[in-house]
Amino acid sequence: MNPYENLQDKRLRPRLLKAEQKICLARLLDLAGDYLRDGYTYSRKSYTFTDDSQEAPLAEAAPDQAALLSRADSLEALKVEIQHCQGCPLHTGRIHAVPGEGASQPLVLVIGEGPGADEDASGRPFVGKAGQLLDRMLEAVDLSRERNCFIANVVKCRPPNNRDPLPEEIAACAPFLDRQLALLKPRMILCVGRVAMQSLLHTDEGIGRLRGKLTVYKGFSLLGTYHPSALLRDASLKRAAWEDLKILRDHLTALDKQEP
Ligand code: URA
Repeated sequence: MNPYENLQDKRLRPRLLKAEQKICLARLLDLAGDYLRDGYTYSRKSYTFTDDSQEAPLAEAAPDQAALLSRADSLEALKVEIQHCQGCPLHTGRIHAVPGEGASQPLVLVIGEGPGADEDASGRPFVGKAGQLLDRMLEAVDLSRERNCFIANVVKCRPPNNRDPLPEEIAACAPFLDRQLALLKPRMILCVGRVAMQSLLHTDEGIGRLRGKLTVYKGFSLLGTYHPSALLRDASLKRAAWEDLKILRDHLTALDKQEP
């Protein structure tokens, strides 16, 4: 099967080339280069290419589709694209995609891992027990999704059995998060949990080491803290999470003072 078959728009599907087709193309490009340089045909070593694999992983195909889909110029358009996305296999198991929700010019973009059962059922982010705790955490530092936060996830469709999203699923969805970031232009990003933090920073460092340190992601100040589900499982982490929220609040205040 052609692994790019899942791309709905045929024009977006990369062609799989045989080795001899690639050799022809390379020779043609060489000749064109010679012609443009001085018209003299230079001798070259022979080329070695392999046939493109029919088994190329989905991860290589899916981001192309999402990247092209995510040229949305408004949050509403992006929401519709996400709701119709078939860029990775997670779409087959979803009830609803969960694009995210909140203020359109937020102080903080909160990024979680991915929808759970409650979010899949409702199409809204962080509405289960963990979501209720997240709302209380935000409220403690004068933030809320109604007033000044936007809440999103690294993957927009629920991974089965609440497993971690796979790297190729995260890669397929990443252009949507990038687009959200570009449209929302938050003052800060708050990453909740290991998966969100690791996937944005491309690291496998544990959340215990990553949390509570201000860093920069794509030009935006980013802070990580524990996922509210982790706090529900282990109340001893709450103190550290509170320290992180204070860092968030202090940094927002500092950024506010820098404003002309
Ligand atoms: N956990 C997450 O990371 N995101 C949600 O939207 C809900 C639970």
